[in-house]
Amino acid sequence: MLPHPVLPAQGSLSLEQSIWRTAAAFEAANLDFGHGTDNPLDEASWLIMHVMELRVDRPPDYSQSVSADRRQACNTLIERRISERIPLAYLIGKAWFAGHEFFCDERALVPRSPLAEFINADFFDLYRELGSVLTQPPQRILDLCTGGGCIGISCALAVPECRVVCSDVSTDALDLARSNVAKHDLADRVSLVESDLFQSIEGKFDLIISNPPYVDAHDIDNMPDEFRAEPILGLAAGDDGLDLVRTIVAEAGKYLTPRGWLVVEVGNSQPAAQAAFETLGLTWLEFDHGGGGIFQLPASSLC
Ligand SMILES: C[S@@+](CC[C@H](N)C(=O)[O-])C[C@H]1O[C@@H](n2cnc3c(N)ncnc32)[C@H](O)[C@@H]1O
Repeated sequence: MLPHPVLPAQGSLSLEQSIWRTAAAFEAANLDFGHGTDNPLDEASWLIMHVMELRVDRPPDYSQSVSADRRQACNTLIERRISERIPLAYLIGKAWFAGHEFFCDERALVPRSPLAEFINADFFDLYRELGSVLTQPPQRILDLCTGGGCIGISCALAVPECRVVCSDVSTDALDLARSNVAKHDLADRVSLVESDLFQSIEGKFDLIISNPPYVDAHDIDNMPDEFRAEPILGLAAGDDGLDLVRTIVAEAGKYLTPRGWLVVEVGNSQPAAQAAFETLGLTWLEFDHGGGGIFQLPASSLC
């Protein structure tokens, strides 16, 4: 328990004051930020604006006052965020990815992949930049290891005519993904498949995109508490973090159209992946908004 509430029950308090007080408390508590924000001020803004039922995609009136009831609701979330180290997205049940809102809970990781930037770039322009001979955006996309479905669903929203298969070995994750498919009204174009990597996958794809588990044993042993709130199945991937990525790289060629591409996130396991797949000539994507550790390979390198 915190010694006293972060937002006082008495007196007037503006939105701005509430955000700053919360940010200061988060900073003092030495929280880890890596589940949707990367600093205490953004995380505090997200929490307070959620309780105030304000849109996060437009500037609020920072002078508006925060009622006693809402302060209490904020304090409850702040207390849990600090005492239990639960990612805020789990506490409020939602997260943002690639500009879209998703249901989010302990059945899957909190969406945070830099792939959001890749997806929001115009697919067609990006394909041309990568030297693809595709004359149209990907028609069939596989989101392998989909979790709550944020990557596959964002792809479907970015490429209106495409069809997407989202697959995961976890039925819990797929249940969450199903809610997100319904939330975005995409049941006609996004299907869900329970599959251990490619085992139950059928057909070929123009794009296989994957944020698989890739955390190596050292990082698993040393990760902040916030990550322990997430399903370990979504994180741990053996000594060098490549247990699943090796299978993905070995088998993806069979599931790609001749002009298809494989895009895989490996995060901190980038050096291990670079060494393991040196002969394939991985191309590492660059991101304006931070993050990295994502490679792409054309089908021609994988056959
Ligand atoms: C890093 S999470 C990514 C979730 C989501 N794509 C995202 O970006 O937020 C990895 C996901 O891989 C799934 N997974 C773990 N092992 C798997 C396997 N053998 N086959 C398919 N999915 C697997 C986990 O259940 C988890 O949902």
